[in-house]
Amino acid sequence: MVRIAPSLLAADSSRLGQEIAALEQSGADLLHFDVMDGHFVPNLTFGPHILKQLKTHTSLLFDVHLMVTNPAKVIPWYAEAGADFISFHLETAPHPEELISLIKKYGIKAGITLKPESDIKKIIPYISEADMVLIMSVSPGFGGQKFQNGALEKIRFVRDNRKSENILIEVDGGININNAPLCIGAGADILVAGTSVFSGGLYAQNIQLLKGGIL
Ligand code: DX5
Ligand code: ZN
Repeated sequence: MVRIAPSLLAADSSRLGQEIAALEQSGADLLHFDVMDGHFVPNLTFGPHILKQLKTHTSLLFDVHLMVTNPAKVIPWYAEAGADFISFHLETAPHPEELISLIKKYGIKAGITLKPESDIKKIIPYISEADMVLIMSVSPGFGGQKFQNGALEKIRFVRDNRKSENILIEVDGGININNAPLCIGAGADILVAGTSVFSGGLYAQNIQLLKGGIL
C-alpha cells in the first residue's frame, strides 16, 4: 500500500502541534518537512528547533526534504533534531556519496532528489547507496503548484533501474486524487501531498482517497 506524507507547508503554522495530531489520527504515514533556505529556493521555512519540539508530540516518521545550498552543513542539525529520512538535491552536492554516508551515519534513511528540469539519469551512480529517490513533480520552493506529467516517466525510470524495492520512490508536488493513481501505477511508494491533504479540513478522507481507497 502506498504511504502518504503530508507536507506541513500546507498546514496551519499557528497550530502545528494540533495539525500533526490530526494527521496522525487521519492515517498519515510520514510528515514531510520542506526545508528551504531562501537561497537555493526563494522561500524560507522550518528550522531544526521546530522539528525537535514537534518530535516529542508524535510517533510519525519525519521526512526532511532539504532545499538548501549547503546540505553538508545542515544535515547534522536535522539529524539531531529527529529526522528519520533526509533527502538532498544532487544539484547542491559536489560529492553526493559523502552526504549519503553522512546521513546514514546517524542511522537515518538517505534520499536523493533533483529539480524537474534536471536529467534523471544523474541519480544512477548513487541509486544503490541511497534509501530513497524523491521525484519532484513541481519546481521546488512553493506548495500549490500543478503536477508536471513528466514525473511519471521518471518514476518508471527509477523503478526500472533500482536494484531493490528497498530503495523507495517518493513523489512530491501537485499530487491529487486524479494523478495519485498514475503515480502509484508508475511505481511510487510514498506520495507527498500538501494542498490535497489539507483541502477542506477533511484529512482522513483526503488521505484515504489518495491511497486509492473508497469512501
Ligand atoms: C515544493 C515542496 C512540496 C510541496 C507539496 O517545494 O517540495 O513538498 O510543498 O505541496 P503541494 O502538494 O501543495 O504541491
Ligand atoms: Zn517536498
